Amino acid sequence: MTTPLRTGDLIAGRYQLERVLGIGGMGVVYRARDLLHEQFGEPCSSVALKVLGECFSECPDAHVLLYSEFSLARSLLHPGVVRMFGFDVDTRRQSAFFTMELMHGMPLDRLMLERPAGFGWHEWQPMALQLLDALAYVHGRGVLHGDVKPGNVMVAEAGIRLFDFGLGQSQAVTGLPGLDRHRISAWTPAYAAPELLSGAQLSATADVYGVACVLYEMAQGRRARERKLTQAPDRPRQLPRHCWSALRAAMAMDPTQRTITVAEVREALSGRSWRWFA
Ligand SMILES: Nc1ncnc2c1ncn2[C@@H]1O[C@H](COP(=O)(O)OP(=O)(O)OP(=O)(O)O)[C@@H](O)[C@H]1O
Ligand SMILES: [Mg+2]
Repeated sequence: MTTPLRTGDLIAGRYQLERVLGIGGMGVVYRARDLLHEQFGEPCSSVALKVLGECFSECPDAHVLLYSEFSLARSLLHPGVVRMFGFDVDTRRQSAFFTMELMHGMPLDRLMLERPAGFGWHEWQPMALQLLDALAYVHGRGVLHGDVKPGNVMVAEAGIRLFDFGLGQSQAVTGLPGLDRHRISAWTPAYAAPELLSGAQLSATADVYGVACVLYEMAQGRRARERKLTQAPDRPRQLPRHCWSALRAAMAMDPTQRTITVAEVREALSGRSWRWFA
């Protein structure tokens, strides 16, 4: 049984919890000071520290789950992906945790609340390209994110960062124990590919669906929420037709029809090879 953490606690004799940055379905993320690095005069010693939520404390493979998230993300080095630091266990409290780069900015789900009408093309396109760059890189490294949604994208001045690989998977054999993710999965229906909700395995094409839904909502704003999944989506007015063909292909409900890759959507949105999809 793990002991709940509180602001002010010192974790593993090194990290002092300053405040809660966010609470998700699986974990709690704190802003913490790294007192060890401070001792050596490090001016920017703050990190983000993630532990599993209390409801997971009874789950026997919960710590493995947290380690798996850390291990997947640690293999990724890209300006559009959150950077991992270290994994550790506070033995006194029996709490596993990992530390990562403290991201500054606003999660995309909050930013979208401020933009009920969606983003115009000149804001939308660079954000879309950065998000697709990050996800194309992740896929190129043989990693599936598994939970691409606005709440897992940070928007900062320096650009977009994809984070939260808690439902992610490696496409390679990793040696990590196999986890029954369906037991703990809590996908957000608005962004989860239909086949995932009917029990299919995670795939790159499921991530394609998720990112396309995010981009569609960024363009359509609140109207995207009113869409019935059985209806073909309307083209957001600000999107040129060649972009729309690619985005619509990425939002195909049938995974066998969703043959476009993240890198191809990115190409189409950048306007370079749009004829493929026109
Ligand atoms: N590195 C970070 N820097 C700053 N804030 C962060 C960082 N990581 C997470 N957060 C904040 O904490 C919140 C929860 O983090 P995260 O998405 O990793 O948790 P989760 O429990 O896996 O979420 P979910 O509900 O998506 O499963 C985020 O929405 C974000 O606001
Ligand atoms: Mg999250």
